[in-house]
Amino acid sequence: MRVAVIGGTGHIGTYLIPRLVGAGHELVVVSRSRRRPYQPHPAWNQVEWAVIDREEAEAEGTFGDRIRALRTEVVIDLICFRLESARHLVESLRGQVRHFLHCGTIWVHGYSTVVPATEDLPRRSFGKYGIRKAAIEDYLLGEARIHRFPVTILHPGHIVGPGWVPLNPQGNFNPEVYTRLACGEELVLPNLGLETVHHVHADDVAQSFQQAMTHWGAAVGEAFHAVSPAAMSLRGFAEIVAGWFGRTPRLRFLPWEQWKETVSHTDREDTWDHIAHSPNACIAKAQRRLEYQPRYTSAQAVFESVQWLIQNGQVRTDSTSAS
Ligand SMILES: NC(=O)c1ccc[n+]([C@@H]2O[C@H](COP(=O)([O-])OP(=O)(O)OC[C@H]3O[C@@H](n4cnc5c(N)ncnc54)[C@H](OP(=O)(O)O)[C@@H]3O)[C@@H](O)[C@H]2O)c1
Repeated sequence: MRVAVIGGTGHIGTYLIPRLVGAGHELVVVSRSRRRPYQPHPAWNQVEWAVIDREEAEAEGTFGDRIRALRTEVVIDLICFRLESARHLVESLRGQVRHFLHCGTIWVHGYSTVVPATEDLPRRSFGKYGIRKAAIEDYLLGEARIHRFPVTILHPGHIVGPGWVPLNPQGNFNPEVYTRLACGEELVLPNLGLETVHHVHADDVAQSFQQAMTHWGAAVGEAFHAVSPAAMSLRGFAEIVAGWFGRTPRLRFLPWEQWKETVSHTDREDTWDHIAHSPNACIAKAQRRLEYQPRYTSAQAVFESVQWLIQNGQVRTDSTSAS
């Protein structure tokens, strides 16, 4: 099939495009052409490029028409963050596409209630990003169920892969946290370290999109989590990371109000966002209906990323410090 991927050169697209080309699809990658994928792959030589700035085209009111003009049977929208953007695209593609796949986020759940969270739980979203994504989800599922617009939504967790910093055991993106654990230095965690994070390898997110296309009948009108098989507590995550370097972590715990004074503003904001959500999402629905089988546990996915950080000098270990 001819497939357009909007925002196809980022974390997810790096894996999704080679997968879909490998499966015999004809790909059109939509982006501003500023970024290259994180890894090279011969599949990129076989794709058609559509250089479109979504924000500019939406401001002109032409984005939907330009996507429709690509004449693809499937549209995968990886970068929709506003309800108006979703509405504009759906109106343009109605009656034109066999399958429309939207990238959501597990942030639509907001704070955790029953865990692991299933897709059908009432939403408790908070924060601009999560609230907006939940509004898009609600709108798209309504379009599918009332007007038969063929939508599927995939909700990734914290996406990780080689090439960027994976969410760390403090719940932020400071690579120094990995260095501290690798070198046996003390690490301070907020509260009891029992709040949770839920990673997913970017290739497993890509797999979920591919499986949703393959299982069209089971996927249309539905939302699915795209995460690893299990979330981790911050404390458990720290133990796993230290264990890679043959260590037991030297952990100390501080109540949030004290802990937040020990880190930078950015780290504090990121950690708060992650522990306030403390995601823990269930993949049973995706396993059952899409035959989604994540290749990576959370720890395996982060391990691969941390190896990349070490090789690229962003994380030190005792052996790299000595050299
Ligand atoms: N990152 C996470 O941990 C995470 C977790 C849960 C859900 N999500 C969801 O994942 C999706 C993002 O996927 P990703 O992480 O693979 O994206 P990404 O790595 O941020 O890549 C963004 C892609 O969109 C393109 N792009 C950015 N702005 C554009 C514009 N104005 N017009 C056209 N193209 C544009 C970029 O290429 P150019 O710069 O060259 O245009 C690139 O191809 C979002 O829906 C987000 O809500 C992410």
